[in-house]
Amino acid sequence: MGKLHKKIVLTGACGSLGMEIRATLAALADELVSVDIADAPETLLANETFVKADCANFDEVLPLMEGANMAVHFASIPDERPFETLLGPNFLSSYNAWEAGHRHGVQRVIYASSVHAVGMHENSAGIDVDADHAPDTFYGLAKCFSEDLGKLYWAKRGMESVHLRIFSCTKVPQNLRALRTWLSFDDLRHLVERAVTATTTGFAVVYGISNNDRATVNNVKAAFLGYKPKDNAENWAESLFAGAPPADPSDRAQLCIGGPFATIPLGESGVAAINAMSAPTPEPATAPQPDDAKKLPSFLTKKGMNP
Ligand SMILES: NC(=O)c1ccc[n+]([C@@H]2O[C@H](COP(=O)([O-])OP(=O)(O)OC[C@H]3O[C@@H](n4cnc5c(N)ncnc54)[C@H](O)[C@@H]3O)[C@@H](O)[C@H]2O)c1
Repeated sequence: MGKLHKKIVLTGACGSLGMEIRATLAALADELVSVDIADAPETLLANETFVKADCANFDEVLPLMEGANMAVHFASIPDERPFETLLGPNFLSSYNAWEAGHRHGVQRVIYASSVHAVGMHENSAGIDVDADHAPDTFYGLAKCFSEDLGKLYWAKRGMESVHLRIFSCTKVPQNLRALRTWLSFDDLRHLVERAVTATTTGFAVVYGISNNDRATVNNVKAAFLGYKPKDNAENWAESLFAGAPPADPSDRAQLCIGGPFATIPLGESGVAAINAMSAPTPEPATAPQPDDAKKLPSFLTKKGMNP
C-alpha cells in the first residue's frame, strides 16, 4: 500500500534542521525529493532523491514541484544579514516555493518561519499565534513576508500552508534564554509530522517550541494540529544557571521574544550575539544558588503558557 503522500519536496535538506526531518518525511511519502544549494548528504534514504538547486531561481524550483503533494520549505540563510544578501535565499525562494507549488497543484507548504517574525513583542505580553507581526530584523521581515505569502495564496488560490515559528532548535538548550525558547529535535519531528499529516489546515501558524515551563507564547489556537511537545528545557536549568551571569531585567534582549536579535543593528549577525550568550562564562565570585531562578524577572519564571 502506498504511503500517505505520493511526493514531498524538502528544501534546505542539508541544513541542521533539514537533516533532522528527512527520515520523518520519507516515512510519510512514496518519494522524498531533497533539495539544497549545498552538496548532497553522504547517504540517501531508500525513497529519497537529491537535487542540487538554488531555490532563489524560479526555473530551478518549478520542475521540482511536479507531482508533489507537499512542499516543506526550510531553505534560507538562518541569520540576520544585509537585506540584499537575504533577498534571494529568504524572500525570493519563498515566492518560488509557493508559486511553483501552485502551478503544479501542491496542496500545502510547510514553512520554517521563526520567532523573529514577532521578535519585538515582549515576553511579558504572552502572545498567541494571532499576534501582529513584529519583525526584529530583515531576517524576521523575510519570515513575515513568507507568512503573508502563505496567507495570500490561501485566500486567492486555496493553497494551504502551515508556518512553524521555530524558536531555538538544538540538540540540547544552549543558554538561559533557551529555557524559554528551546525546541528539541524530537518535538520538531513531531511538529513537522503533524503539519504534513493534518487533513486540512488552511492557513495556520504554530509556535515551534517544546513544552518548556518558561515558555512565553501559547499555541492554544493551533491546537487543531495536534502538536503535543514532550520535551522541557527545564531539565537543563540547573546546569545552565551554574556560572551564568545575572540577568539584567532592563536589557531589551532579555525583555523581547527575539532575544539579542531585538537589539542588534540591522544587517548584523544575531546568531553571533546568541552564541556569545552561550559561551562558557568565567567562574562567578559567589557560587550560584539553586533557587537563583526566583531572582529573575517574572517573565523568565512564567509557568504553563505552553499547552
Ligand atoms: N535552527 C533554528 O533554531 C531555527 C529557528 C528558527 C527558524 N529556523 C529556520 O529553519 C530553516 C532551517 O534552519 P537551519 O538551522 O537548518 O539552517 P541551516 O543553515 O543549517 O540550513 C539551511 C539550508 O538551506 C540551504 N540554502 C540556503 N540558501 C539556499 C538556496 N538559495 N537554495 C537552496 N538551498 C539553500 C543551505 O545550504 C542549508 O543547507 C531556516 O529557514 C531557518 O530560518 C531555524
